[in-house]
Amino acid sequence: MRKKVFITGNSQGLGYGLTQAYLERNDTVYGCSRKGCHGLESHELHDYQCDLSKLNDIHQHLDYFLGDLERLDLVILNAGILGEIKDLHETSLDEIYRVFNINVWANKVILDWLHAQAFPVHNIVLMSSGAAVNGNGGWNGYALSKAALNMLTAQYAHEFPDSHLIAFAPGIIHTQMQDYLCNHTDTKKFPSIDTLKQAYGTEHMPSPRTAGQRIAERFERLREFPSGSFIDIRKI
Ligand SMILES: NC(=O)c1ccc[n+]([C@@H]2O[C@H](COP(=O)([O-])OP(=O)(O)OC[C@H]3O[C@@H](n4cnc5c(N)ncnc54)[C@H](OP(=O)(O)O)[C@@H]3O)[C@@H](O)[C@H]2O)c1
Repeated sequence: MRKKVFITGNSQGLGYGLTQAYLERNDTVYGCSRKGCHGLESHELHDYQCDLSKLNDIHQHLDYFLGDLERLDLVILNAGILGEIKDLHETSLDEIYRVFNINVWANKVILDWLHAQAFPVHNIVLMSSGAAVNGNGGWNGYALSKAALNMLTAQYAHEFPDSHLIAFAPGIIHTQMQDYLCNHTDTKKFPSIDTLKQAYGTEHMPSPRTAGQRIAERFERLREFPSGSFIDIRKI
């Protein structure tokens, strides 16, 4: 049966790669982002443009976009922003709020909307990162937000007994996020970026398309792990 997959942040990067992967599997993709998902011709792609940082508007968008569905097989809460790599003491609360709004609170609002629906949701993935647990210097608001996302996943797992939630670190993927990390950060001050630089442009940092296919395969095994877990693709 054709799966129904909802992916946030699918205009570019990993979300775009995952959209390609699920369309190639003959599934139906519902995607949202601000710019829209362009260049993929398919009747099975339903695209919706919205700004997830406007938290108070999200329920209305979802009512309009997904309200008539009878089920969702997979929800991938992928939209995320990095913020600037710099010391935390030089980072304002406003900068951290901006990162948290997308990486954490927009996902909370979407989960609350899903919780209120009569239709079943089989699997929910929240896109996390190794930064949730690594504690490397400079990753400030992003690392805090992904750590919070992991706990958001663990907490909501108790509240979705008929669904299955996983916080998933997808490994490193050649997206705009990595373009910024590998070209515009101070590696002397923040040496963890060196590992990324070494992988940049090599097979160790796959394209979104390759990563999307690999990750879609791994997602078939999600239910081997307890709901609420944090899983890193490099460890499974
Ligand atoms: N790339 C990596 O190596 C890597 C590693 C670990 C984890 N991750 C995680 O994987 C996810 C995807 O990352 P990526 O590298 O693919 O990033 P990316 O290329 O920067 O793409 C981010 C996506 O999020 C969407 N987005 C951002 N702000 C939004 C907003 N206000 N409203 C709606 N959509 C918004 C963007 O769409 P619009 O700009 O069109 O709105 C875009 O489609 C993120 O959660 C990231 O933390 C990535």
